[in-house]
Amino acid sequence: MRRLKTWLPALPALALALVSLGGCVSPQQNQGGGNTGAGAGGGYQRKTKKPGETVRIGFSMDTLKEERWQRDKQLVEARAREVGAEINVQVANSDDAVQTKQCDNLLSLGMDVLIVAPHNGEIAASIVEAAHRQGVPVISYDRLIRNSDVDLYVSHQVERMGEMQAQYALERVPKGNYVLVGGAPTDNNAMLMRKGQMNVLKPAVDRGDVKIISDQYAKDWRADEALRITEDAITKTNGNIQAVVASNDGTAGGAISAIEAAKLTGKVVVTGQDAQLDAVQRIAAGTQSMTIYKPIKPLADSAVDNALKLAYGEQLSTPDRIANGKIDVPSILHKPTSVDKNNLAETVIKDGYHKLEDVYKDVPRDQWPKVASAPKAAGGSFAAALALLLGGLGLALRLR
Ligand code: BGC
Repeated sequence: MRRLKTWLPALPALALALVSLGGCVSPQQNQGGGNTGAGAGGGYQRKTKKPGETVRIGFSMDTLKEERWQRDKQLVEARAREVGAEINVQVANSDDAVQTKQCDNLLSLGMDVLIVAPHNGEIAASIVEAAHRQGVPVISYDRLIRNSDVDLYVSHQVERMGEMQAQYALERVPKGNYVLVGGAPTDNNAMLMRKGQMNVLKPAVDRGDVKIISDQYAKDWRADEALRITEDAITKTNGNIQAVVASNDGTAGGAISAIEAAKLTGKVVVTGQDAQLDAVQRIAAGTQSMTIYKPIKPLADSAVDNALKLAYGEQLSTPDRIANGKIDVPSILHKPTSVDKNNLAETVIKDGYHKLEDVYKDVPRDQWPKVASAPKAAGGSFAAALALLLGGLGLALRLR
């Protein structure tokens, strides 16, 4: 009895700790109260569909500028078709007013769930509020919607990606002048990446080994901004830069143009992110050092699958949490892979993300790695194994 008494006051805290530790969080547990189906942070009344009813998903995208977003669009649409959901995709072309209006339209068309890749993570909070007023849950896609009660965040380990870029550069340039080219200041990912980059670089800066010549952000992740930032740093140092930590492949491309113009090609380590075709071609050709590969299919599938779960009021499995300034958002963060010329073949090419002949189109054929792209590789090796087996059998029979 005495023991029970000492435990009793701790019970609510224990319950809270269990909920926040648990990988499995039902919408009710996580976000508290709602009469129809589950409620979300802020206690909105979420509408739910009955089993068998078709779910209508609105997918609001910021942009299709980078190749990856075209994949996102195709793969989200494909998954929705696969699971029998209806999907309506809108693209805002980097305009916040357009994105807000498109989301309002999606809501008035009666979407059951919104998946939003925001242009501006702060402004998009109003999209979450508008959706919640109508009982519609919102999934923040790839980029975090800040200061809101957003229901779920699906993305990659973005801070880790920044660390991977800086780590790559630091291993090759332990001492030297660095240029940091960040992404859009309106995109939370750009901030998380810079945080990750500095986690790694700060000790080297403090030791005096690394000098950060320039530390800026490229508006809307624009390559021309990255070019200007890199050009300025080259001018300022009279060409004395050794590493450009560019946050994505688009900005890496801009930085590389400035490096080429200054005749420093091959002398500067340049990082990137997205494994887009022009970037992996540059890696194969030796002008870009690395990229971060994020297969898009797992991200797209997890967004659509969880949209359905939210719509039907089912439990979500959310192993991660990310603070967005208002709540710790239940999150699913996929793993990125660091890619350079040494593992291009066993990553993006093996997976069929890009074809060998496309990646190495500017490289003499005798320097291509000896791997075929994924589907062919699988088929090819099976055929080869079969041929070997049959050949072996034939030989055995002949020998008898
Ligand atoms: C994405 C990157 C992309 C960038 C520019 C970021 O939020 O995570 O993959 O390159 O936006 O669109």
